Amino acid sequence: MERLVVTGGNPLRGAVDITGAKNAAVAILPAALMASKNVCVIDNVPDIEDISCMETIMKSIGAKVERKGNAFHVDSTELTTTEALIEEMRKMRGSYYLIGALLGRFKKVKVELPGGCHIGVRPIDQHIKGFEALGAKVDIKHGIAEVTADRLIGANIYLDVVSVGATINVMLAAALAEGETTLENAAKEPHVVDVANFLNSMGAKIKGAGTDVIKILGVKELSGCDYSVIPDQIEAGTFMIAAAACGGEVTLNNVIPKHLESITAKLIEMGVEVEENDDSVTVRTNGNLKGVNVKTLPYPGFPTDVQQPMTTLLSVAKGRSVVHESIWESRFKFIDELKKMGANIKVEGRVAIVDGVERLTGATVVANDLRAGAAMIIAGLMAEGETIVTDIGHIDRGYPNIENKFNKLGGNIRRISVGE
Ligand code: EPZ
Repeated sequence: MERLVVTGGNPLRGAVDITGAKNAAVAILPAALMASKNVCVIDNVPDIEDISCMETIMKSIGAKVERKGNAFHVDSTELTTTEALIEEMRKMRGSYYLIGALLGRFKKVKVELPGGCHIGVRPIDQHIKGFEALGAKVDIKHGIAEVTADRLIGANIYLDVVSVGATINVMLAAALAEGETTLENAAKEPHVVDVANFLNSMGAKIKGAGTDVIKILGVKELSGCDYSVIPDQIEAGTFMIAAAACGGEVTLNNVIPKHLESITAKLIEMGVEVEENDDSVTVRTNGNLKGVNVKTLPYPGFPTDVQQPMTTLLSVAKGRSVVHESIWESRFKFIDELKKMGANIKVEGRVAIVDGVERLTGATVVANDLRAGAAMIIAGLMAEGETIVTDIGHIDRGYPNIENKFNKLGGNIRRISVGE
């Protein structure tokens, strides 16, 4: 059991390299299981717990996975089983991409249902709807999903909600179905586009990813390829907000500024200076921030995964801000922790009313989930005194080396073992 001890008050200055996108990599690695010939070499994979979990899952079904720095070499030509019934499946969300990948390639799969952050009810009805439309039979009992098909045949599928997971999962299965699938009301997130690009590099025929209509013409087989995962939009957003929270000047390298537009726009509205270059952004502030209203929405709207860091920043902005969380109904639990640090926030259902205070003060707080953990670190960095963040396993699931990255910018974060 480890904790982070954050001593607040330092401005952040310097440059930070943003790593590969977690939510793209956790889909691209299982997508590599669909290659029946040649090795996939996937570069820019983040070194985080969710990826280690995925590596264990893939090896458990016979994939040969080798790490060389940030590159994963995946040989899936001879898998030994289509069943993944191990504990790691329940430790992360992206493990459900094994369903689409193995169903597509082998027309059968049996897996434990996924876990992930506790941020609200996380149904998979739209995934199931998609698989059934392609001709699969879905049987879920005792937390295990068994999905089988004699043949997968392309279909027109309209998703009732915009879902990243369902869009990717159905795209995986449809890539090896017979005929054409049209996926309407699809998610447009950068990681959806990245997975489609990866599949196309393997020989798939997918058009329209990044719009709300994706057309997938099934092919007979997919083959290994070389690919590099896009930069992490959410890690970048987290560092942009931290830079604004602590004052100073931080350059984020290896980003796609277009993916950050909704975050950049809100920071500028608050009075933060954001300078965009080809593959970097620089965030500067003198600490005079004003409150703004934020509503989380599917891409290109403001990402729900950055809501918790943003609400934390707003807790010290001048005046009143209203934050509306429209994707996950339980993503405000971290606010109780922020209140321990002096924040003045009222939560009414899916709306948080934030009245800015002069400053936060250190306290012992819990990282309720992954992005709540990042929010607690930001709160600690800008607070007066010492903040202890517990339950940091959630943070390690999604942020590589977070304390080292902040410390290089002038932050003061120590990792301790309980009992130290
Ligand atoms: C992905 O989760 C991300 N996880 C989440 O990031 C992110 O918050 C979310 O997309 C939204 O952007 C991964 O990519 C591994 P959804 P996912 O399906 O795919 C409803 C993080 O912090 N819905 O887009 O599970 C659902 O309840 C994590 O990195 C259905 O109703 O999210 C939610 O309200 C947390 N039925 C909305 O759609 C379904 O079948 C969006 O969910 C599927 C989803």
